Amino acid sequence: MTTARHVAIIMDGNGRWAKRRFLPRAMGHQRGVEAVRELVRGLEGTGIECLTLYAFSSENWKREEEEVDDLMNLMRKFIKSDLPEFIANDVKLKIIGDWQALAPDIVAMLKDALEQTAGGSRTIAVALNYGSQNEIARAAAKAATAGDITPETIAANLDTADLPPLDLLIRTSGEVRLSNFLLWQCAYAEMLFVDTLWPDFTPAHLQQALDDFANRERRYGGR
Ligand code: IPE
Ligand code: IPE
Ligand code: MG
Repeated sequence: MTTARHVAIIMDGNGRWAKRRFLPRAMGHQRGVEAVRELVRGLEGTGIECLTLYAFSSENWKREEEEVDDLMNLMRKFIKSDLPEFIANDVKLKIIGDWQALAPDIVAMLKDALEQTAGGSRTIAVALNYGSQNEIARAAAKAATAGDITPETIAANLDTADLPPLDLLIRTSGEVRLSNFLLWQCAYAEMLFVDTLWPDFTPAHLQQALDDFANRERRYGGR
C-alpha cells in the first residue's frame, strides 16, 4: 500500500455547479473556495505532504472581465480570512505560476502570507496565473543560462522543484484533459478524473481518491 505524498487537483466545475442551480457563476466560485477550505482542514491524517491546487490558469484571463474580477476578489477575501487558520494548522503556503504579474495588492498579500507561513510543515501550493508550458520554458531558459539543458536541470528550475514528486493528479467535473497543468510533473503521476463538480468535492472524496491510488501499481516503465 502506497500513500500519496503529493496530490494535485484541477478544481473544475464551479460554473456548471452554479448553472445547475440557476445561480450566478460567482456563487459557484464562492462555494469552490469553501470546498478548498474544508479540504485543507481535512488534510491532517491523510499522509499528504503537499497539495497543489489549480486556482487560476494563464488562460483564464480570456474569461469575461466580470468573472476575472470576481475570482481576484475571492482570492483577496480568502487570503485575509484563512491566513490565520493556515498558520494555526502548520500549513506552509507556496505559489506556483507567474503570480508576480497579478494585481500589486494581491502580490503584496501573497508575499506576506508566504512569509507568515514559511515555518509550516504541510505545503499547500496554489497555482495562480499558472501555465505549464510557460513554466517549462522559463525553467529551460534558466537551465540554459546556468549551463546544460537536461531533464534534471529543467526539473531543478521548475516552480515545483522543492516539492515531492507528483503522485496523484485529480480533475473534477468530468473533463478529461490537463488544461496546461503540471505537464512535466505528470510524466509518471497517477491520474483520476471524477464527475463530481468542484464545489461538491469533500474530504471524503479525497479519501476515496487516496484509497484508489493506494491500490494502483506504479511501474515507471519497469515490470
Ligand atoms: C473552475 O471552474 C474554476 C476556475 C477555472 C477558476 P470553472 O469556472 O471552469 O467551471 P466550469 O468548467 O465552467 O463548470
Ligand atoms: C482549468 O480549468 C483551470 C482551473 C481549474 C483553474 P478550465 O475550466 O479553465 O479548463 P478548460 O478551459 O475547460 O480546459
Ligand atoms: Mg472549467
